[in-house]
Amino acid sequence: MRRATCPAAPPSAPSSKGGSTVSLIKHHEKIETNVFLLVLGIFITVATGGLVEIVPLFSIKSTIENVRGMRPYTPLELAGRDIYVREGCYNCHSQMVRPFRDEIERYGHYSLAAESKFDHPFQWGSKRTGPDLARVGGKYSNDWHTRHLIDPRSVVPESIMPGYPHLARRALDYSDIGARMATLDVVGRGEMYTPIEGAIDNAAADLEAQATPDADTDALVARYSDFAFGADRAEDEVTTMALGDLDGNPDVITEMDAVVAYLQVLGTMVDFTQVDDGRRAEWIR
Ligand code: HEC
Repeated sequence: MRRATCPAAPPSAPSSKGGSTVSLIKHHEKIETNVFLLVLGIFITVATGGLVEIVPLFSIKSTIENVRGMRPYTPLELAGRDIYVREGCYNCHSQMVRPFRDEIERYGHYSLAAESKFDHPFQWGSKRTGPDLARVGGKYSNDWHTRHLIDPRSVVPESIMPGYPHLARRALDYSDIGARMATLDVVGRGEMYTPIEGAIDNAAADLEAQATPDADTDALVARYSDFAFGADRAEDEVTTMALGDLDGNPDVITEMDAVVAYLQVLGTMVDFTQVDDGRRAEWIR
């Protein structure tokens, strides 16, 4: 067996090198005693570090991996998202499940970067007066959401959330929904609605189809499923989407319909059933 031996001490540095070290220290003293040089030095150091770390993230394609099932919001969901932002729901609700055991036990699988890729601006947030909403889709019925938003204490007596009854009273103004999608597409560098054939041209029709009971939703569902799973998807691979009258008032498409459609799709696009089982089982053992 070989024994570890201490490496021989390096030969002492030649005197000329020693001299340059001394002069470097002298220069350093100049920098340390001149506030402008010091600030400039700090700036150059931090900027170099920042450039090396951040710049590649803008060009590397794999920074955000494509995940099966992810798609941009439908026009109705997008209208709901805009109302969510308008009403400031993000002041009390985050939308990101952190990869910690307590969060995963409570909310489900931790959030993936790809799950926010169509969110401009993202809604991650850091304030949780209320629970995280990243995976609230499918947790409650449409009826529960409507009652809860009209009067939170009617379903959760101890709730401190404010009511938003006006959402149920106000007809949804979607005259500019196509323009909103076109704008988002620019922000998303043409990778949001451009690849979905007819998404912007049929925006208003798609919105009406999603919120109207017994409407023909085939074109809408196919459009967004093709994006989520690829045009060669199997017939049973259909994207999740809340359809029909969502707020209990079939006569008019209200802001409530839009917000409920948005809440119901949150965190449901990617199928985590397999992953969750494995994770839980591993922990319980
Ligand atoms: C002042 C803080 C506050 C604001 C603003 C707020 N919420 Fe809440 N929210 C809460 C609290 C607290 C709860 C937990 C009690 C409850 O269920 O009502 C909650 C619960 C919820 C839940 C149920 C979550 C779950 O998993 O049980 C949903 C959905 C929700 N809020 C949606 C919204 C939406 C949509 C808006 C904006 C229109 C909004 N909230 C604005 C505080 C807030």
